[in-house]
Amino acid sequence: MGFIEILIQVTWVAVVLFELTAAAVEFPIALPNCTDSCGGVEIPYPFGLREGCYLNHHFSVSCTTNSSGKTQPVISDDFIITNISLQGQIDMSMYIAHDCYDEQGVLDDKNSNDAWLNLSGIFTVSNTQNKFVVVGCDTYAYLKGYQPYNEQYSTGCRSQCESTRYIVNGSCSGVACCELDLPIGLRNITITSESFNKHAEVWRFNPCSYAFITRNGSFTFSVDALRSLRDKKEMPMVFDWAIGKERCKDVENICGGNSTCIDSDNGPGYRCECKDGYHGNPYLPHGCQDIDECENHDNCKGSGEKCLNILGNFTCSCIEGYHWDRSAGVDLCVINQPLLQVKLFVGVGISFIVVLVCSSWLYLIVKQRKLIKLKRRFFEQNGGLILQQKLSKQENSTAIAKIFTNEELKKATNNYDETLIIGRGGFGTVYKGILPDNRIVAIKKSKTVNENQIEQFINEILVLSQINHRNVVKLLGCCLETQVPLLVYEFIPNGTLFEYIHHESKASTISWETRLRIATETAEALSYLHFAASPPIIHRDVKSSNILLDGTHTAKVSDFGASRLVPLDQTQLATMVQGTLGYLDPEYMQTSQLTEKSDVYSFGVVLVELLTGKKALSFDRSEEERSLAIYFISTLKDNRLFEILEKHIVKEGKAEQLKEVSNLSKRCLRLKGEDRPSMKEVATELEGLRKMEMHTWVNVDSNSEETKFLLGETSDSYKYNACNKSTNVYDSVGDHVIFDLDDGR
Ligand SMILES: *[C@@H]1O[C@H](CO)[C@@H](O)[C@H](O)[C@H]1NC(C)=O
Ligand SMILES: *[C@@H]1O[C@H](CO)[C@@H](O)[C@H](O)[C@H]1NC(C)=O
Ligand SMILES: *[C@@H]1O[C@H](CO)[C@@H](O)[C@H](O)[C@H]1NC(C)=O
Ligand SMILES: *[C@@H]1O[C@H](CO)[C@@H](O)[C@H](O)[C@H]1NC(C)=O
Ligand SMILES: *[C@@H]1O[C@H](CO)[C@@H](O)[C@H](O)[C@H]1NC(C)=O
Ligand SMILES: *[C@@H]1O[C@H](CO)[C@@H](O)[C@H](O)[C@H]1NC(C)=O
Ligand SMILES: *[C@@H]1O[C@H](CO)[C@@H](O)[C@H](O)[C@H]1NC(C)=O
Ligand SMILES: *[C@@H]1O[C@H](CO)[C@@H](O)[C@H](O)[C@H]1NC(C)=O
Ligand SMILES: *[C@@H]1O[C@H](CO)[C@@H](O)[C@H](O)[C@H]1NC(C)=O
Repeated sequence: MGFIEILIQVTWVAVVLFELTAAAVEFPIALPNCTDSCGGVEIPYPFGLREGCYLNHHFSVSCTTNSSGKTQPVISDDFIITNISLQGQIDMSMYIAHDCYDEQGVLDDKNSNDAWLNLSGIFTVSNTQNKFVVVGCDTYAYLKGYQPYNEQYSTGCRSQCESTRYIVNGSCSGVACCELDLPIGLRNITITSESFNKHAEVWRFNPCSYAFITRNGSFTFSVDALRSLRDKKEMPMVFDWAIGKERCKDVENICGGNSTCIDSDNGPGYRCECKDGYHGNPYLPHGCQDIDECENHDNCKGSGEKCLNILGNFTCSCIEGYHWDRSAGVDLCVINQPLLQVKLFVGVGISFIVVLVCSSWLYLIVKQRKLIKLKRRFFEQNGGLILQQKLSKQENSTAIAKIFTNEELKKATNNYDETLIIGRGGFGTVYKGILPDNRIVAIKKSKTVNENQIEQFINEILVLSQINHRNVVKLLGCCLETQVPLLVYEFIPNGTLFEYIHHESKASTISWETRLRIATETAEALSYLHFAASPPIIHRDVKSSNILLDGTHTAKVSDFGASRLVPLDQTQLATMVQGTLGYLDPEYMQTSQLTEKSDVYSFGVVLVELLTGKKALSFDRSEEERSLAIYFISTLKDNRLFEILEKHIVKEGKAEQLKEVSNLSKRCLRLKGEDRPSMKEVATELEGLRKMEMHTWVNVDSNSEETKFLLGETSDSYKYNACNKSTNVYDSVGDHVIFDLDDGR
């Protein structure tokens, strides 16, 4: 075994021993320096194992070891003590008196004996805890002894039976077993058991007579006992012990502090006992010590109560914040008034908060209601009702124009984020937005609330919702819940034609071919508006900044804010003159009579713009050249066409085409509307010119020099375009302006 293991063992033993002694010595039971136990039996003072440790020689106990090695406390030389209690009792082993015979009726000496127990005068047989028991079927036995003051005493019991038939197990009631109660103060007892007929008739089931005194309840009679008691030697019995022969009144204050004197109730003498609320050995000086009742948690366990140990007793008191209240008939600890007030305060606080939350909730609801009302008002104010009505009259209109909610558009534009602005003008702002289905849209938001502008919005919605043409910007829907109505369009990424023509670097990228295509597309869109739409629509504000270009430079006519629907039975309308200076039909300006020929005039100006790359109205030019239309006409008159044309267009060398288009422009710009061609004619003519160009492309080999020139130019331009495409990054918001929001009308 290793050193550590030994150490652990030793430690363990030490701990166990310590715990044993700690448990045993809850309070001292013996005098100092005196052994207080023997063979596992506590020996409390006044008993003691040696001189000086017991009160007097009557209490002298010796600790002996019997022949089988068992250590036991013994009194009066012979009598084994099994327990000593300070309540004045001592348990001992008492011999059983036997009277045994063999089969032949001869006394079995070895197994026959009387039983006696002579103890000094301080011990008396406990009359309350013992019984005198006699067992046998051919038996009589008697008990002799002395009562106080040495009076002899004798009693006996007899039982006779011929069989075990009537024996009741567990009951010592006269058949084969009888028992007697004992008198007070009995001592120096001798028990003798006898037989009438030497057990001759009953020997086979009962060879002996037995008699003994035993602790009540420790012996239970049964048939077996008739035979088995033969081998049993001892029975437990109880003696009472007392001190001296005096009564308490004769020995005043004989017991120590915290204890009281009690007269023995079984003979002479007295005992000492700790007072209620104390424990310990009352025979020792300072033996009785106060019990800490508060260690028992059953005391003072009512709510708000606390336990306070006092000498010999305990009291319950109320913890802080509580007080005694007797109103319920019993003492109860009740919470103090101040605390109640605090509770009340807390309660009031909570209800206040609840009221606050509720009212703010109500406030929010009311606010929400107001907001909804406001939205409704805006909706109505913005002509929502009229629009709804008109839209509902049109077939398929819902498929074309959707009425968006304010929330949807707020979300799409990230709450009208500044960085999403793609166009700004005197008229309002255009935001780029992304709808939940990932469609990119342009959202047009008017700047000011103006009855007139709202009318224009509604007008635009009505006009556009009827149009489905590839060269007209598609209106996706609108929102009327806001103070200013919002229009939602398809997003056209490449800006306006105006930018392309008048931006120096961009202008050179648009070839004559593209310009002619854009012109044709625009003409087709206008022709559609004038002749295919029902009722016909007059755009009223045709200009290069209202023609948008998409990714493939396809023209998209936009901004129908000023457009008019022309009732079918009318060809002209009297309106307030509206439009953009430089593009405005002079006849219309004078007469205020609006016809579709006004659009033709404006388109003529756009055509001239495409040809010359000059702005429709420029104050940089001299007074006679200020209006491009007038300037162009006069140039034509002077036969100086090629001076005014855009240089790189001229280089492309389609002189014939350029002359034709110039002529067309001139016709469009005629002062009298009647003299101008219709948009239909213009579109057809332009389409024809384009076809002629393609035709020319196929049959060019006759004019080799021009072909070379053209091929070189074209391939160069092609290269440039390819290059341009690869680096074409839309990094500037300005490039994406879709709507010209000039205040120039
Ligand atoms: C107990 O024994 C110790 C040492 O053996 C001794 O010093 C002490 O005086 C003794 N106490 C009594 C009360 O005899
Ligand atoms: C010694 O005492 C024990 C316990 O009281 C007992 O069982 C045993 O029989 C005794 N031995 C002798 C030889 O008396
Ligand atoms: C000794 O007697 C006391 C008091 O009657 C009792 O509490 C205790 O259990 C007894 N001990 C034994 C070992 O019988
Ligand atoms: C009882 O027995 C004790 C101890 O043997 C003895 O001193 C005492 O005198 C006896 N009492 C009587 C009345 O015989
Ligand atoms: C026990 O006491 C009785 C009665 O006093 C006496 O007759 C008997 O001899 C005593 N026995 C012993 C062993 O002292
Ligand atoms: C009494 O008890 C014994 C065993 O202890 C058993 O054999 C017998 O039958 C019992 N007698 C009665 C009447 O119960
Ligand atoms: C003896 O014990 C029984 C049951 O245990 C009880 O009913 C009876 O009163 C007791 N007798 C005495 C004298 O203590
Ligand atoms: C302890 O106090 C209670 C109430 O004050 C009382 O009824 C009880 O008798 C007391 N107990 C003792 C042992 O003094
Ligand atoms: C009585 O008990 C108290 C409390 O335990 C203790 O302090 C005091 O010494 C005791 N008195 C006597 C004489 O034992």
